[in-house]
Amino acid sequence: MSVNIKAKISAVGHYLPEYVLTNKELEAMVDTDDEWIRTRTGISERRILKDPGKASAYMAAEAAREILNELDLDPKEIDAIIVATVTPDYLFPATACLTQTMIGATNAFSFDLSAACSGFIYALSTGSAMISTGQCKKVLVIGSDKMSSIVDFTDRSTCILFGDAASGVLLEPSDDETGIIDHILHSSGEGAEALIQKGGGSINPASHETVDKKMHYIYQEGRPVFKRATEGMADVAVEIMKKNKLSADDVDWLVPHQANLRIIDATARRMDITTEKVMINIDKYGNTTAATIPLCLYDWRGRLNKGDNLVLSAFGGGYTWGATYVKWSL
Ligand code: COA
Repeated sequence: MSVNIKAKISAVGHYLPEYVLTNKELEAMVDTDDEWIRTRTGISERRILKDPGKASAYMAAEAAREILNELDLDPKEIDAIIVATVTPDYLFPATACLTQTMIGATNAFSFDLSAACSGFIYALSTGSAMISTGQCKKVLVIGSDKMSSIVDFTDRSTCILFGDAASGVLLEPSDDETGIIDHILHSSGEGAEALIQKGGGSINPASHETVDKKMHYIYQEGRPVFKRATEGMADVAVEIMKKNKLSADDVDWLVPHQANLRIIDATARRMDITTEKVMINIDKYGNTTAATIPLCLYDWRGRLNKGDNLVLSAFGGGYTWGATYVKWSL
């Protein structure tokens, strides 16, 4: 098996549910207001998948179909599918297997990856390693989260933050100097209690009691998570710049996980880059967990030039955090 083939992103796809949940609408549901949400988080609205019977696998399949259509690619050519998600359709089978069958990628092998808001960065690293070894030639890496399925819409501290979406990329071998250049990944279980879905897994299997105690919803201690996320996302972005000898001028774009505008601003300040170089769409979609970073790539794809230096950076539950250095290939 050959080694060290560089992976490149050869297409980007996305799916956004139609329903727009505005801050105004949330004002009628919980004790909050538009001004508080916008100034504390940067979020104005988010998308919610309302169709019964549709969830993360469906959204991932729609994002994948967009990629296949753009490249006029036969789904049978896909070697592997990784779906990063914390809202799998089921605990098992893997969401990626359902997505695989929905798109007819009958020759692929598929699996899910759980790294919360860092899920896309982790999956990108995994997918590019599969290209690097020569094991695969076409890998779909998709972040898909139906966060509305685990949000308590009576808890004002979390229900304002999250939205539903899927977005992803196709990885293929690069034949020039562009592609995925470097990754840094970190994790630590010390944050497990601060950001967690307590019920439904093997330690607290679903029961009347877990449902009565609302353990199937996201639990978050906002302040400590905010502090660690601000440090973690900025530290790892600076770490990957130093490791690759990138100055602030060398970085064309910061592609940050969209959890809170104040965390994004702090990361850009630590990297010493100006706001014009930062991809921000949290105002429109909120925190879509594993989908935020590819959704930024999708929204900005028309403004990216071949050879642009992108620093992707994320922090999330686990805790997990990481950064990727990409030289844009399209
Ligand atoms: N509307 C109005 N007031 C709200 C509110 C809402 N939706 N949510 C919380 N508040 C109140 C709190 O009750 C608190 O009131 P008190 O001072 O009377 O107790 C006050 O606002 C401040 O709460 P606090 O939690 O300190 O606010 P914050 O500035 O930390 O913002 C978050 C809250 C959740 C927006 C912020 O902590 C955050 O973004 N955390 C990290 C999120 C994150 O990154 N998560 C995932 C990692 S990927």
